[in-house]
Amino acid sequence: MTVSIAKQGRVAVVTIDNPPVNASSQAVRAGLLEAVAATEVDPDVDAVVLACAGRTFVAGADVREFDLPPVEPHLPDVIIAIEAASKPWVAAIHGTALGGGLELALGCHARIADAKARMGLPEVTLGLVPGAGGTVRLPRLVEAELALTMIAGGKPISAKAALEAGLIDAIATGDLLEEAVALANTLDAPRRTLEKAVVGTTNPDAFDKTASGLRRKARGQVSIGAAIDAVERGLRLPAQKALAEGRATFLALKSSDQAHALRHIFFAERATLADPRAKQTPRPVTRIGVIGGGTMGAGIASACLMRGFHVTLIERDDTSLAAGTNRVRGTLDSSAERGLLPDLNAVVARFETATDYAALADADLVIEAVFEDLEVKNQVFAQLDAVTRPDAILATNTSYLDVNAIAGVLTDPSRAIGLHFFSPAHIMKLLEIVLPDMVAEDVVATAANLSKSLGKIGVLSGVCDGFIGNRIMSAYRAEADRLLIDGATPEQVDAAMRDYGFPMGVFEMQDLAGLDIAWAMRKRRLAEGRISDPYIRIADRLCEMGRFGQKTGAGWYDHSDKGVQPSELVMSIIAEERQMMGKADPSFPTEHVMPRILGAMTREAEAVLAEGIARSADDIDVVMVNGYGFPRWKGGPMFASRAVAD
Ligand code: COA
Ligand code: NAD
Repeated sequence: MTVSIAKQGRVAVVTIDNPPVNASSQAVRAGLLEAVAATEVDPDVDAVVLACAGRTFVAGADVREFDLPPVEPHLPDVIIAIEAASKPWVAAIHGTALGGGLELALGCHARIADAKARMGLPEVTLGLVPGAGGTVRLPRLVEAELALTMIAGGKPISAKAALEAGLIDAIATGDLLEEAVALANTLDAPRRTLEKAVVGTTNPDAFDKTASGLRRKARGQVSIGAAIDAVERGLRLPAQKALAEGRATFLALKSSDQAHALRHIFFAERATLADPRAKQTPRPVTRIGVIGGGTMGAGIASACLMRGFHVTLIERDDTSLAAGTNRVRGTLDSSAERGLLPDLNAVVARFETATDYAALADADLVIEAVFEDLEVKNQVFAQLDAVTRPDAILATNTSYLDVNAIAGVLTDPSRAIGLHFFSPAHIMKLLEIVLPDMVAEDVVATAANLSKSLGKIGVLSGVCDGFIGNRIMSAYRAEADRLLIDGATPEQVDAAMRDYGFPMGVFEMQDLAGLDIAWAMRKRRLAEGRISDPYIRIADRLCEMGRFGQKTGAGWYDHSDKGVQPSELVMSIIAEERQMMGKADPSFPTEHVMPRILGAMTREAEAVLAEGIARSADDIDVVMVNGYGFPRWKGGPMFASRAVAD
């Protein structure tokens, strides 16, 4: 039974059982309406507890139903029926109460959660606003500003925060169900959320500031503005009118292009590891070695430490080791300050450092993040071959180098793999898992398992120069250089990309990440005769002048305390190169910038797919959205190009 009723004394326990996440699909909604009817007329029932079987409370609407015509009963009506019941209903929340799940709980007359539960209204991340009363009921329980951040920011909150805010009545200290029944027994009458006045705000300026911050962050994502408007209506309008308007907005957004794109990426992200190679039994991993404590190594070490692994960081000498250790400690400290690490001491206790590779003798997995130089990486792998256990997995974080060549250094190449993290590695969600020809399947499965343990989205990639993401990025970066020769300016290209929805343009991004790694890659390709004509030298000339970007105070732009400024020097280099290539026109129509960038992106993506480097077009979308700032609400380059073609 999807919805069943059992009795505990005079309390009816209504249980939803709809695996995997108890989504509020049609059978659940119909079952709940029947449960309201049955408990209302049952003389042996005084109160009701609404609970869920399995891993979580209702985690929201069934997203798969959004592409189908709506089927009765609708969730808002079910919630209204629960709220209108004459007997008190208590929601017993474990796991995640999200979206329609939290809206159901808000319709109940009291709420109790276990300490680990999380609650949120993430509809905005799917291009929607809460459609079943969330925008109207939540501001009647919590301060307006929190309602705004939950609804328009889409971020869930912990049970502790929910209790402090007034969203729930209690946190269970023992058995959730028992305590929910006990709470139900104390309630004489329903306490209907909709009948309460809005809590409002003690600080209207803070509310406005949060709203304008969210609008800025939206960068074209319609649902965020719509969610802010819905919260404002929820605060201002009579409840029934606000409910009707919230529902209308939800229905209008549900069939929008952006909502389709966001649903596409939601499911694409969950399918990346549905590959037989990732399904083998993984090798156990508790101890991880990280070689190199620079930008990436320190980030990777921090990411692993924060997720419970034991980490040994290796550097080439004491000075570099001290610098790397400080980087890791800095990241851990600031994460602790932001409340992300409840027990900093326990995390630090799992952190060791050394300059001697022998410290990796008992490592289950080692991730190398030394300089992007094949010779150096090969030496590191040769040393690892000598000191590690034969079943230890050896991974490289190389951005572009040939993982087959690196694997070839090992006595047993089947234990080598690429784990391409993105910077900052403790924050960025994407992990490209690069599979050399000889890799063992359980090594792939272990990498897939690791990506889940680190809370990352793992995407499988074949070996090629730059794998999925950097290879596509190289192609559109080269196109951006061609745009400069054709008359565009770096600011014009960057502004067009931002207008499209990227957080920054391709030149700003290079200044942030550093121009040197790609320069090294181009020099290597030039030496190998693998650079096609016409070759544009602008970036090389900047690097030759030491303009590596923000870290050297200059790159495509000038960086100083005063901020970021266009550079006259760069403009003169562009003009010289333009002239040398026989193109003198210093102007370019802005409306042609994005079609050129997107065209280059999708052409390379098609090649990546045709060569079997990416498993699917969806995986490419996941990579570009999560690693390269492609606007999520456009679904990724492959989805967007299909949408344009349709
Ligand atoms: N509708 C339909 N299917 C859903 C779903 C939903 N709301 N939420 C999750 N699923 C499916 C996933 O596609 C996945 O299916 P699969 O096993 O066939 O790949 C399965 O449930 C498990 O989800 P997953 O995300 O892999 O599990 P998790 O334990 O990491 O996370 C949640 C669980 C609930 C936190 C997460 O799935 C989530 O955030 N879901 C969306 C919640 C949401 O946005 N609700 C509002 C909808 S308007
Ligand atoms: P970095 O220069 O910041 O750090 C490299 C570190 O490796 C230095 O601290 C250096 O002392 C150490 N090192 C060098 N040789 C060593 C050796 N033999 N043994 C131990 N330590 C040694 O470089 P980074 O930006 O962190 O990049 C590291 C790797 O990660 C490169 O392969 C790079 O291509 C890749 N990568 C970088 C980024 C990025 O955004 N920076 C993103 C993904 C991948």
